[in-house]
Amino acid sequence: MTSHATTGYEARQRFAEDVARKAGALALDYFLRRETLVIEAKKDPQDVVSIADRAVETLIREQIAEAYPMDGVLGEEYGLIESSSGFTWVIDPIDGTSPFVNGMPTWCVSIALLHQGEPVVGVIAAPCQDELYSAAHGLGARLNGTPLRIDGSRTIRNAVTGVGANHHVPPRTVADFVEALLTQGGTFIRNGSGALMLAYVAAGRLVGYYEPYMHAWDCLAGYCLVREAGGWFLPFPVEGERLTKGAPVLAAGPGAIEDLRTLAQL
Ligand code: IPD
Ligand code: CA
Ligand code: CA
Repeated sequence: MTSHATTGYEARQRFAEDVARKAGALALDYFLRRETLVIEAKKDPQDVVSIADRAVETLIREQIAEAYPMDGVLGEEYGLIESSSGFTWVIDPIDGTSPFVNGMPTWCVSIALLHQGEPVVGVIAAPCQDELYSAAHGLGARLNGTPLRIDGSRTIRNAVTGVGANHHVPPRTVADFVEALLTQGGTFIRNGSGALMLAYVAAGRLVGYYEPYMHAWDCLAGYCLVREAGGWFLPFPVEGERLTKGAPVLAAGPGAIEDLRTLAQL
């Protein structure tokens, strides 16, 4: 990969931070009047969406089209626009729509930038906590401006692992992982936002995150944050058609990589 100085990661990172703040403010406005939203089911009754998701994605797309018209965009609600610059933005306007519509604060706006197959910028805004997580390739990860560095002494046994689940995979897959984690002396949490839990891995709040099947828009910003904070992630397939399909998601701090790979069989 060429150096970030020549590829403009820093400028795009500043841009992504600005867009995530605006998108977060719009999402928060909807969240505070969520009783007025019409909730629609997508794949199943637990997979929900509202006008808030669509309006926030539209805002992000408009900003990208204005600032970087040659860049590609993949968003959860409106699909893929191919890139002619080599850069592709991968966005989830609201990750954690279930907590969002049910009145819980654990949701976020997730914006990643892909370049040469790697997530080179990752920005996650969590408006209810007034938190902005931001990372760029070679430039480290920060939470509200404070650098993040994962503590390598934390393991599955002395820290908490995030786990996610949806109805794309058999319940047994998640149940087996949770059973194995508990058997090994670990424990888990699920807050309804995979992207936010990945940001928590970068921030050292969780020692790892596992979900058997998520999409690129759920994990790429979090992956960039984890890598830049000194952690590891399972590469997500982003070539061609694969970018729009789901895959297993696993990220960990240095002290938990081996254990979590064994438990998840990845
Ligand atoms: C979901 C959340 C959830 C995860 C699901 C995702 P959404 O995204 O990240 O935590 O378990 O797999 O689909 O629907 O809230 O954007
Ligand atoms: Ca999502
Ligand atoms: Ca979403």
